[in-house]
Amino acid sequence: MAILLVKDVVKYFDSRRVLDSVSWRIENPGIYSLLGPNGAGKTTLLSIITGIIEPDGGRVLIKDSKPSNPSTRMIIGYCPQEPGLIGNLSGYDNALFYGRLYGLRSRDIIDRVSKMGEKLGLSRNDLRMKVGKYSGGMKKKLALIISLLHDPEILILDEPTTGMDPGVRREVWQLLLDLKKMSKTIILATHYMEEADQLSDRVAIIDRGKIIVEDKPSVLKEKYGPKTVLQLRFENTINNEVIGVVKKYSDKYYVNERIVKIHIGEPEKYVPELIGELYSHGYRVVEFKLVKPTLEDVFLKLTGRRLE
Ligand SMILES: Nc1ncnc2c1ncn2[C@@H]1O[C@H](COP(=O)(O)OP(=O)(O)OP(=O)(O)O)[C@@H](O)[C@H]1O
Ligand SMILES: [Mg+2]
Repeated sequence: MAILLVKDVVKYFDSRRVLDSVSWRIENPGIYSLLGPNGAGKTTLLSIITGIIEPDGGRVLIKDSKPSNPSTRMIIGYCPQEPGLIGNLSGYDNALFYGRLYGLRSRDIIDRVSKMGEKLGLSRNDLRMKVGKYSGGMKKKLALIISLLHDPEILILDEPTTGMDPGVRREVWQLLLDLKKMSKTIILATHYMEEADQLSDRVAIIDRGKIIVEDKPSVLKEKYGPKTVLQLRFENTINNEVIGVVKKYSDKYYVNERIVKIHIGEPEKYVPELIGELYSHGYRVVEFKLVKPTLEDVFLKLTGRRLE
């Protein structure tokens, strides 16, 4: 039984095809990203997966049930792109409102919100404040906390870290990794390639309503990205002996006075070897740069356009 099955989903808005036969299958707990630029169809797809809107074709099953099934709803936590919070209630009261819909006890709700708020830098004072006075980042934090109140097995997050500063973003990433350790499934829409790359077990890249590729980030980069480039700068002009050593590691290299750029496979293994060998011949590397492929490169290769 798949955790998520999306099969040939089609969606039109005003006779425009916004999702074009999308299929996506998630088998095991873990973190799964839906990576794509603005307007690609991420929010539309997540809204169909959560049962908020109906597709015009195809089907979605969550653990063999329809998303609209009440018992399915109980195992899903959803944090929408635009947090649906009530401005003239406090953070605590928003949490109580949503938490009670799930049948949770008030004391448990307050406890949980306070604890998670502490983790994400939303203090008890903040939580007593009216949400209308919150910044965008504070709203995102509260919405994320609320989506976790009923301890869902499947968490669906639409751009959870947009508007958060880098420190908080890392806190959220850590929180998601902790949830993964608890065998939860996290489905995450994002246009940050770094977020998708660092967190996900698998990434589905979506563009213009189609999932164009889906695999482990490392496999995507290996398959569609450029090779890793190692750039070395030496104290002195590069001579034939240095080139002789470099040639043993790669046949694709460019030399420019004191700098050599080398296309290198398996860099973790060969970079230390190469530099070690150069040292043993008496050549000191004074600057070192490793440029690795990114998911941006993958997107560029597959679509001819940039992601961010
Ligand atoms: N309710 C709607 N009515 C008409 N068109 C819509 C509606 N919702 C979305 N669209 C269109 O569908 C396309 C996909 O939108 P969607 O919000 O799914 O993209 P997204 O990948 O989530 O983008 P973003 O990164 O900006 O959030 C866009 O062209 C958008 O204009
Ligand atoms: Mg969106």
